[in-house]
Amino acid sequence: MLELRATALAILANADPQAKVSQLFSLFEGYQNQQITLDITHQLDAQGISFPGRPIKPELVLPKLVPKRRMDTLEGRAGLLHSLAHIEFNAMNLALDAVWRFSDMPKEYYEDWLKVAKEEAYHFSLVNEHLHSIGFGYGDFPAHNSLWEMVERTTDSVMARMALVPRTMEARGLDAVPSIRDRFKQIKEDRAVEILEIILRDEIGHVLIGNRWFNFLCSKENLSPITAYRELAAKYRAPVLKPPFNMEARKRAGFTSEELDLLGA
Ligand SMILES: [Fe+2]
Ligand SMILES: [Fe+2]
Repeated sequence: MLELRATALAILANADPQAKVSQLFSLFEGYQNQQITLDITHQLDAQGISFPGRPIKPELVLPKLVPKRRMDTLEGRAGLLHSLAHIEFNAMNLALDAVWRFSDMPKEYYEDWLKVAKEEAYHFSLVNEHLHSIGFGYGDFPAHNSLWEMVERTTDSVMARMALVPRTMEARGLDAVPSIRDRFKQIKEDRAVEILEIILRDEIGHVLIGNRWFNFLCSKENLSPITAYRELAAKYRAPVLKPPFNMEARKRAGFTSEELDLLGA
C-alpha cells in the first residue's frame, strides 16, 4: 500500500504539470478511500530526488523582468492568467512539500495540506484550461519564483513555514485577487471572473489552515502568535506587507482582530 507522505514527495518531483495534477487527484481519492496509509513519524530522505519537478518552460526570471500585463490586449490578459497558473503550479508544490517534509505533526495537519494540494491542482487546471481556450498555455511567458523561494527558505521549521507561506504569501493572494477579478469583470470576461471567485473562496481556507497550524505550534511552545510572527518574519526576511488589505477575507481566514488591527496601523 502507498504511504501518503512518501507519495507526496514523488508527486512533488514529477515535472509534468498534467501528470502532477492527475496523480494528486488520485492521491486525494485514495486517501479518502483508505487505500493510502499515513506515517507521521517517518523522516523522509529526499537526497538524490530533484524537486520541485517543473517543465522546462516557463523560464524563471527576476520579478521585475516579468512583463507588465495590459488588460487591453489578448496577450496582456493571457500573461496575467499565466502568472496565476504559475502561482497555482507552485502552490501545488508547496502544499506537497508541507505534507512530506515535516514529521510528527498531528494526522489532521497532513490531511489539511493534502486537501490544499488537491485544491491547488484544481485551480491550476481551471486557469490552464482557460488559458488554452484563448490560445495560450502554461510555459508561454516567463515567470518569477518568489513563492517557491519562501518555501525553500523555510525548510528547517514547520512554524516558520506556516507563518511565512500560507499566512504571508497566500494571504497576500487574498488581498490581490479581488482587484484582478474586477479587472476581468470590467472587460466582461465572465469565465475568468468565475475562476477567480473559486480561487478566492478556496484560498481563504488555505490561509485558515496556515493559521490553525501556526497557532497550534505557538500554543504548544507557549509563544504569542504576534511576537512569534514578528520574529520569524524578520529572521526569514519575509516580504513587508503592503495595503490594501482584504480585511474581510483575512478575518474569515482566521486572523484575530488584534492581528488585523496591527495590519491597519
Ligand atoms: Fe490556489
Ligand atoms: Fe492556496
